Amino acid sequence: MSQSYETLLLERRDRVAIITINRPDKRNALNIKTREEGAAVMEELRADDSVGVVVITGAGDKAFIAGADIAEFAGRTALTQRAVMVSRSLFNAIDTFPKPIIAMVNGYCLGGGCEVALACDIRIASENASFGQPEINLGIIPGGGGTQRLTRLVGEGKAMEMILTGEIIDARTAFAIGLVNHVVPLDQLETKTMEIANRIADKGPIAVSLAKEAVKIASRSNLDEGLRREVDLFALCFSSEDKDEGVNAFLEKRKPAFKGK
Ligand code: COA
Repeated sequence: MSQSYETLLLERRDRVAIITINRPDKRNALNIKTREEGAAVMEELRADDSVGVVVITGAGDKAFIAGADIAEFAGRTALTQRAVMVSRSLFNAIDTFPKPIIAMVNGYCLGGGCEVALACDIRIASENASFGQPEINLGIIPGGGGTQRLTRLVGEGKAMEMILTGEIIDARTAFAIGLVNHVVPLDQLETKTMEIANRIADKGPIAVSLAKEAVKIASRSNLDEGLRREVDLFALCFSSEDKDEGVNAFLEKRKPAFKGK
């Protein structure tokens, strides 16, 4: 039984869970409640073995997430702001989530919204989507990982330009610089996203989770350390029944039936 949430919707389709940030009137801006509920829903889905892949999107046809709720910034002290960011880090909840997360970007993907997408594993955008880190226009800087994850994903020059100018780029440009994996017409966004999500959800959950862990190590360690960790995680797959099932299914020329064991 799912918890109920005020600011987001949760839907399950087979092994894929879809989280929809549901504040369309505010372009799905992240207020404290949304961050709290976002972190809570990640906890719920982490513990749910029936869920293999998570998709995050925004309600309505205008925005994925238009950033942090700017109204909440007014009058906030440095210490209050820091406490909010540390105790309710949606970005951290996404970053440390053990199953794949796909950002289905259906419109404005700005500031904290772009940082949510960056914390996800795969980003798929509709043609009308736009991306940016416009914090500089408010006299602040990205605080949800933007300076670090955007730089790792698209390189220092492009990240620097986006962060220093606050420029908003369109989906095609985001694709060209490697910020998104695919760009599709808005009416095909869900189909394309679910196709990729289902393809991953069909694999063995243990291998998927270990593969995700191994890939994430690449941007957080040097090559020797990363290669060592990869060997360990590879060997760990050999402790699973899924590895026996996958290998036997290949040898017996049949489709594997993975159990996540
Ligand atoms: N925080 C709080 N409220 C936001 C918001 C945000 N990040 N983004 C949009 N909203 C609110 C607007 O204040 C407006 O509320 P209102 O109807 O009560 O006045 C509502 O959402 C609709 O926004 P509007 O600007 O009228 O919509 P639009 O479609 O013309 O423009 C954006 C959309 C996203 C381009 C524009 O709202 C914008 O620039 N938002 C701020 C983006 C930003 O700087 N994000 C980084 C924050 S750190």
